[in-house]
Amino acid sequence: MSPSPAAPADRLLVAGNWKMNGTRALARELAAAALAAARASPSVEVVLFPPAVLLDEVLRAVGPTTDVPVGGQQCHWAAEGAHTASVSAAQFAEAGCAYVLTGHSEVRRELGFDDARVRAAADAARASRLRPIVCVGETEDERGAGVARTIVEGQVDAVFGSRSAGLEADVAYEPVWAIGTGRTPTVEQAAEVHGWIRARLEAHGAPRSRILYGGSVAPGNIGGFLSQPVVDGVLVGGASLRADAFTALVTAARAAADRRRP
Ligand code: PGA
Repeated sequence: MSPSPAAPADRLLVAGNWKMNGTRALARELAAAALAAARASPSVEVVLFPPAVLLDEVLRAVGPTTDVPVGGQQCHWAAEGAHTASVSAAQFAEAGCAYVLTGHSEVRRELGFDDARVRAAADAARASRLRPIVCVGETEDERGAGVARTIVEGQVDAVFGSRSAGLEADVAYEPVWAIGTGRTPTVEQAAEVHGWIRARLEAHGAPRSRILYGGSVAPGNIGGFLSQPVVDGVLVGGASLRADAFTALVTAARAAADRRRP
């Protein structure tokens, strides 16, 4: 039995966000590779976020075990109703999901999810026992203007703040300018932002939330990010669509996890 995703285990997390990519055939190939990689690397939690219509194909391929939990890419904030084209948290849960992403910058930009909706979607996810991964990150202009910290902390506060009990959720720090561009912050820059986020999570009673780095993660740079103790894993887009690259990421995460062992 794998540890419940609701209780962050002492493992590094490698999550693949397929976005609007993939066929049934590719889903089978990627899921099989993810399962093999996960089983070879028990110190790493491997999670897949396929498009909703491929969830059943992925779940069939990984089988009934929870060795590779799956998630939805964004749930609606409402429980049900007249919301054409959306998927509810309960529907993702019934489909077999354990996780849901919320607030990815593409969802914020293209689908109009503001902080209030990202928070409401996280709440809807929790109500269906899904573990949200809340995506935050500054644009290039915001970094240039020196307000990255204000932006990122504001996004974290909007979802985790003003609660009687800490929200059980993880965070993915994804600088918008690093997503799909091949550009990344330096390891030190990423670690600095993770430190800001960690402090806010502690202030909001969520000290066990994991903080992932996302944005152009590749086999050649994952080791640097995971060398930082403040980085608990990675959220991967493009490189999660190639079985060899994704396997290499999981293997690199296992090596990083081994190096962290006392
Ligand atoms: P990328 O995407 O790895 O292709 O940059 C990351 C993400 O958007 O989650």
